[in-house]
Amino acid sequence: MEYKLAPSILAADFMRLGEQIDAIAKAGAQYVHYDVMDGIYVPSISFGLPVLKSVRKGTDLFLDCHLMIMDPDRYIDEFADCGADSVTVHVEACHDVGVAETLQHIKRRGLKCGLTLNPRTPIGALAPYLGMVDMVLVMSVEPGFGGQKLLESTYEKLAELKALKERGGYDFDIEVDGGVTKDNLASLIRAGVNVIVSGSSIFKGDIDANVKDFFAIIAENA
Ligand code: DX5
Ligand code: ZN
Repeated sequence: MEYKLAPSILAADFMRLGEQIDAIAKAGAQYVHYDVMDGIYVPSISFGLPVLKSVRKGTDLFLDCHLMIMDPDRYIDEFADCGADSVTVHVEACHDVGVAETLQHIKRRGLKCGLTLNPRTPIGALAPYLGMVDMVLVMSVEPGFGGQKLLESTYEKLAELKALKERGGYDFDIEVDGGVTKDNLASLIRAGVNVIVSGSSIFKGDIDANVKDFFAIIAENA
């Protein structure tokens, strides 16, 4: 299993964004987790396409775009044009053209496609699409804000997802997002997660030391 660390730049210092992305890359992180919020699907507004374009110019890291936006199909071409490597959409948010069509659109543009769900959405909601996705993102907090505590119900969700993955013989990545810390990382890895998003626990304090600590825990529990 390949493990990827995806620091969420929602927790970065935006005055020093380039410097901080260089720091996570130098310490070994492979992905940048890029949280897009529209103020409708979630209460907050974060950042969007122009910032993505600048980040793309400044880094070779894999840009893992998590769209917390309503009807995400409307924006897939623009995310592709601005340099996204993967686009993950919410199963609850695809009303205009439907989930399968949205995922196909992402693939047509040559991007990796991900599907995610809110903590209150049952894992069964993803079942019809599991054969199409490169990654399933299990939200471990209510989407919309960084710095929340990981919900304990996440572990049951991960177990259900792992069972569906094995039963179907799928090989998608399993990503977790929200409240991931050095204290719960080992349990999450043992629960089957291989793409790890973390905002506050990477960007608060010493970025280099935090990334290295995360990788040491990954190595011990992989
Ligand atoms: C929440 C976002 C997360 C968030 C994670 O809606 O999707 O990616 O930035 O931040 P932490 O790790 O601080 O919970
Ligand atoms: Zn996210």
